[in-house]
Amino acid sequence: MLKRIASFAVLAAFVAGSAIAAGPKADLKDVDWSFEGPFGTYDKASAQRGFQVYQEVCAACHSLKYVAFYNLTDKGAPFYNPDFPNSNENPVAKAIAKMFTVSDGPDETGDMFDRPGVISDKFPAPFANDMAAMASNGGALPPDLSLMTRARVDGSNYLYSLLVGYKDAPEGVELSSGMSYNPMFSGSKIAMAPPLFDGSVEYSDGTKASVDQMAKDLTQFLTWAADPKMEQRKATGWAVMLYLLILAILLYGSYRAVWRNVKH
Ligand code: HEC
Repeated sequence: MLKRIASFAVLAAFVAGSAIAAGPKADLKDVDWSFEGPFGTYDKASAQRGFQVYQEVCAACHSLKYVAFYNLTDKGAPFYNPDFPNSNENPVAKAIAKMFTVSDGPDETGDMFDRPGVISDKFPAPFANDMAAMASNGGALPPDLSLMTRARVDGSNYLYSLLVGYKDAPEGVELSSGMSYNPMFSGSKIAMAPPLFDGSVEYSDGTKASVDQMAKDLTQFLTWAADPKMEQRKATGWAVMLYLLILAILLYGSYRAVWRNVKH
């Protein structure tokens, strides 16, 4: 028995150890996100700015293939407007879709053709396929960002920390061409050059586009993209709790009523 417990402990320690080893080397920055906690919601203004940064900077290399344009105006989404409960009718989604060019086809001659996006389209990928993406990025594949904040441990903090985490390589660390030093990335050598610089975008709401601000805005946007139903889930959770509470009170009341005249 003791032996069994000991071997189980060794196994548990091994699993825990390898989980830690697989994570990033440096400590992640722990941001106080608006979407954390049982009442947390996305910061819509921030997520809208994050969308702008994705579109103007990241979309050059990264796809967002699980997000359709109409999703942007769904309930709980960055561009949701209660005047348009049916997100398909929201003119913002249509306007955004139109800004993108989508490859469609084949037409009657068998060729693919380009057309402006419509709301039912998913975000178009910047490259025709993975090989083309790798050929343009020194052999590294820019991953799809739709589920990125779920695909990494502590994903929102990871994404933010990665974007603000670029540093000069310490002495003794050789970087081959096309590589940058980022201690937040597993192995610290990343084939993505620092994508953000102060003023990379110009925010229409007057917010100063510092690297820190853009990284936070992007994190709001991409955390929403990876978990678009979070706000509804939390609301349903609270409704269920309230229902159970009322049920418990009623049950207790009826228990008292039924047993009132029975001597204990
Ligand atoms: C010029 C192309 C390019 C641009 C622009 C770019 N990236 Fe990347 N990105 C890459 C490449 C290539 C990789 C793969 C890096 C590697 O595997 O070493 C990558 C990897 C990543 C990763 C994955 C890290 C991991 O843990 O695997 C994230 C997250 C990411 N990029 C986010 C962004 C965001 C957010 C932006 C916009 C601010 C952005 N990228 C802009 C090329 C780009």
